[in-house]
Amino acid sequence: HTVESGNFQWSAPSNIALVKYWGKKDNQIPANPSVSFTLNNCKTVTKLAFTKRDNSITENATANTFSFDLLFEGKPKEDFKPKIQKFLERIEIYLPFLKEYHFTIDTENTFPHSSGIASSASGMAALAMNLMRLEKELNPAMTEAYFYQKASMLARLGSGSACRSIKGEIVVWGNHNNIPGSSDLFGVEFPHTVHENFKNFQDTILLVDKGEKQVSSTVGHELMHNHPFADKRFAQAHENLEQLIAIFENGDLDKFIKIVESEALTLHAMMMTSMPYFILMKPNTLEIINAIWKFRNATKIPVCFTLDAGANVHVLYPNKDKEIVLQFIQDELVGFCQNRQYICDEIGSGAVEY
Ligand code: PMV
Repeated sequence: HTVESGNFQWSAPSNIALVKYWGKKDNQIPANPSVSFTLNNCKTVTKLAFTKRDNSITENATANTFSFDLLFEGKPKEDFKPKIQKFLERIEIYLPFLKEYHFTIDTENTFPHSSGIASSASGMAALAMNLMRLEKELNPAMTEAYFYQKASMLARLGSGSACRSIKGEIVVWGNHNNIPGSSDLFGVEFPHTVHENFKNFQDTILLVDKGEKQVSSTVGHELMHNHPFADKRFAQAHENLEQLIAIFENGDLDKFIKIVESEALTLHAMMMTSMPYFILMKPNTLEIINAIWKFRNATKIPVCFTLDAGANVHVLYPNKDKEIVLQFIQDELVGFCQNRQYICDEIGSGAVEY
C-alpha cells in the first residue's frame, strides 16, 4: 500500500497525575506506576501534512535524514525542532517509513503559552496520533486496540507522561499487580469500576507562576538516580495506586484527598531532597494550599490540590460542588495567581481526530 501525500489533524489533551511519575530508567521506562485524570480543555491541536519524497533524493545521502518543517500557531518555530528530531530518531524503529516523507507539523495549544502548563504531554500525544494515523493509512488492517496502544507507546518516547494523554478518562501507566493489562510501555484505561463521585470531576488550574522552570523535568527524573529516598518512594507509589483502585470504586473522597495531596507534596519533597536540591513551589503556591485547607475544614466540601513539576496549583473537586468552589476560587484564590489567571478544566476522554 503506498500513500503519496495527504494530511491529518488530531487534538490531544493534557493530563494531571494523581500518583506521580518521577524517576525513570532507560528508554522512558518509569520507575513506578502512575495514574492520571485526562483533561478536556487544555489541549494541543496538531496538523500533519505529508508528501512522499523524491526517489532520487531517497537514494542519495540526504535520504538518511528526517525532513520536516515545524510551525507553531502558523509560524516557523526553529527552537522546537531538536526535540522533534530526537523524538523521530527514537521512534523510527517502530515507524520505518518516516524518512520516506517530508512532513509539515503545524501545532497550537488551547491554553496560553508560557502559562507554565506543560505542553509536552499534549504536544507529543497529538504528534504521535498523527504519525500513527499515517501508519494506519499504510497498513489499514490494524485493529483499533493496536492503534491506540502503539500511539501511547510512541507518545511515551516523546515525553513519558504523554502516554497518558491518548485514550480514557483515568489512565494508568506502569506495571501494577492489580491493573490487568498495565505496562511500562504504554498507558491503559483504568479497567475497574469508577464511582459516580468522580464523574465530570473538575480541575481548576491556578496560574501562579508563568516563568520558565529553573529545573526541567528531564533533570528532575535524572536526580532520582542515587536519591536517598528513591526506593521508598517507588514502593509508596505502588501502595498509593493500590489504595486509589479501591477509592475509585467506593467513592471515598476523604481518602482520595489524602492520597492525592500526599502525592503532590511527596513529588516536591523529592525535589527538595535531591542533590542538587531545588524548589519549584512559590510563596503563593503555599498561600493557596493553606487557603484550600482552611476552606475545606470550614465547609467540609471535598476540594483538594495537586501540583505538577511547577508552581501552579490544580484544584480538584466533584462536579456537584462546582458553583461553590468556583465562588471560593474567585473570592479567595485568584489574588494569588499571576494576572489573576486560571483555567477551568475537567475530566476528558483523550485524543480526537478532526
Ligand atoms: O512526562 P515528563 O517527563 O514531563 O514528567 C512529568 C512528571 C510530572 O508531571 C511531575 C508527574 C506526572 O506523572 O505527570
